[in-house]
Amino acid sequence: MRTSDLRARPALPGVGLARTLRPGGRTARPRTFLMCPPTHFDVVYEINPWMDRTVPVDAARALAQWRALREAYERHGHTVHVIDPEPGLPDMVYAANGGVVVDGVALAARFLHAQRRAEGAAYARWFDAAARAGVLGPGGAALGQADEVDEGEGDLLLAGPLLLAGAGMRTTRAAHRELDRRLGLAARGVTLVTLDLVDPRYYHLDTALAVLDDGRDDGRDDAPPLIAYLPEAFAPKSRETLRDLFPDAILADAADAAAFGLNAVSDGLHVYLDAAATGMRAKVRERGFEPVGVEFDELRKGGGSVKCCTLTLRPALVEPVETTAPRVGVVSTGSTTGAAAGLEV
Ligand code: ARG
Repeated sequence: MRTSDLRARPALPGVGLARTLRPGGRTARPRTFLMCPPTHFDVVYEINPWMDRTVPVDAARALAQWRALREAYERHGHTVHVIDPEPGLPDMVYAANGGVVVDGVALAARFLHAQRRAEGAAYARWFDAAARAGVLGPGGAALGQADEVDEGEGDLLLAGPLLLAGAGMRTTRAAHRELDRRLGLAARGVTLVTLDLVDPRYYHLDTALAVLDDGRDDGRDDAPPLIAYLPEAFAPKSRETLRDLFPDAILADAADAAAFGLNAVSDGLHVYLDAAATGMRAKVRERGFEPVGVEFDELRKGGGSVKCCTLTLRPALVEPVETTAPRVGVVSTGSTTGAAAGLEV
């Protein structure tokens, strides 16, 4: 490869090319994230099995851990936008739940639990301002809030041409259909894959599955995405779907998942994850990634870790163009509900 080829790759500010492009083929690409400081973070209600109101939260320590994550992203050249935390919304720190952005088009969440409901509007306002300020790229747009119960990137993970979509705990199948329609996934060549979650401890997809390489990360557009997941967190049919789609996936075990090792963010080379997840750190290293462990025990008290605190903004890089991509539709692994009727493939 000539140096000019290397230069053509998006270099990370502050990170040498030698570090960015590894011999193993792993490449870090700059990302744009949205985070919310844990200014009002606390555990005052219990809406997942990890939350325990009797365990006190150390606010200063939570803030220090959150800052360390933000600094780790920035140190590797990523851009972090920050949304103002709102009083009375202790879970707002889990920014991944604020919505989902595909090609610069943002749909804000609609939360299942009353305690978090006001977060949806707060994130919708932020997306709106971001679109107007050009943060979502040329042609970026904010679509307001979802009509259906939809907990954003907590349940919606883009893996190359697939939008992996959790169901059964928070985000509904009706929300999957809404996303398909409102984000125009088919026209973008993105297929939504419904995955049924069955373990209340892994109530959001991002606690049971991590996208490590979106298939574009190594510079070839045709590479299959690489994920890690906990098979037991999924219904049998969804497990089959995952096996078929990702034969090469890293399989996590119960200890990896319980340490929030799947609640990870990858830039294609660095995998940012909970320092407690020692097993997952070793597994990703074996596959050529560089794990970046972050101490996160305070924010774990709310039932979330690194990924939960990180929303990926995918700004539209170019003006939208009319596409003639064929409609691919929604893959549903569920049997009964008639979800995605007429769309199933
Ligand atoms: N306490 C929050 C809840 O139960 C934690 C959310 C974690 N976020 C995530 N993306 N998994 O809703």
